[in-house]
Amino acid sequence: MNPDALGAFDLSGRVAVVTGAASGIGRASAELLGAAGAAVVCADVDDQGAAATAAQLERAGARALARGVDVTVPGALDALVEQAVSELGRLDVMANIAGIIVQAPVVDFEDDAFDRIMAVNLKGVFRGCRAAARVLKAQGSGSIVNMASAAIDTPSPGLAGYGMAKAAVVQLTRVLATEMGPHGVRVNAVAPGFVETAMTGRRFTAADGTVDETHRQAVLDAVARSTPLRTVGRPQDIAHAVLYLASDASRFVTGQILRPNGGVAMPW
Ligand SMILES: NC(=O)c1ccc[n+]([C@@H]2O[C@H](COP(=O)([O-])OP(=O)(O)OC[C@H]3O[C@@H](n4cnc5c(N)ncnc54)[C@H](O)[C@@H]3O)[C@@H](O)[C@H]2O)c1
Repeated sequence: MNPDALGAFDLSGRVAVVTGAASGIGRASAELLGAAGAAVVCADVDDQGAAATAAQLERAGARALARGVDVTVPGALDALVEQAVSELGRLDVMANIAGIIVQAPVVDFEDDAFDRIMAVNLKGVFRGCRAAARVLKAQGSGSIVNMASAAIDTPSPGLAGYGMAKAAVVQLTRVLATEMGPHGVRVNAVAPGFVETAMTGRRFTAADGTVDETHRQAVLDAVARSTPLRTVGRPQDIAHAVLYLASDASRFVTGQILRPNGGVAMPW
């Protein structure tokens, strides 16, 4: 095989900012972008977790910075992007991955919970997109990757707030793709199916951190049974989608929603 054929995935000399980098999909994505050669700014409200991811990247030979950032704070993402540019020289990839889940039926959904999920999962992504787009537009190149969810395709009880925020992220992605395409900047989203992370693990993890292994296996088995590929996702499965969209391998792809979901939803 011609080794140059994989060069489109090479991120050497590129700079990536990843929010949600302390855990799960964000952490796996930060590590894979670093392994592909990017310098990575690992951002998360969990500053110790972000530092741990950055330290892991450095041990693996990548350049990495850690930043404690709450995506709901006005101006925080502008400052994050500015720091990436001032400390690492440029910005090429913005991966808006930080997210939370709040589950309640609509009849019980409190305003506070609704505001919180919109602040993180929608406004945080909007602000991350806007901050990055300003820099990337002037630069004339770059890729923005937003994290959506299979909840955009499959309505499930309790996921009104989460699903609304993720569906709005999809529309933000599509609109921004039309605005940024003429400037050489691509904007895409990833809509994963069930991935075992801290977010989904809360279903079978007690407050003291102990995991109910029987319940965990029952949940994973039930999800796998209802998935055509008969398995659940790993953070790395989603990181591979992020790398594809971040890299030149997807140079002709914008405004798209990539669905690493085991086949649970297959929209046209
Ligand atoms: N796990 C799944 O099955 C699944 C499926 C579809 C989509 N997603 C999405 O993938 C993304 C990552 O989820 P995950 O499963 O890895 O969860 P996770 O809980 O492991 O990671 C989420 C990260 O986001 C960070 N975060 C939360 N609020 C923040 C804030 N205000 N500012 C900065 N950082 C903040 C958390 O500290 C955490 O490190 C989320 O957007 C989630 O909605 C997850």
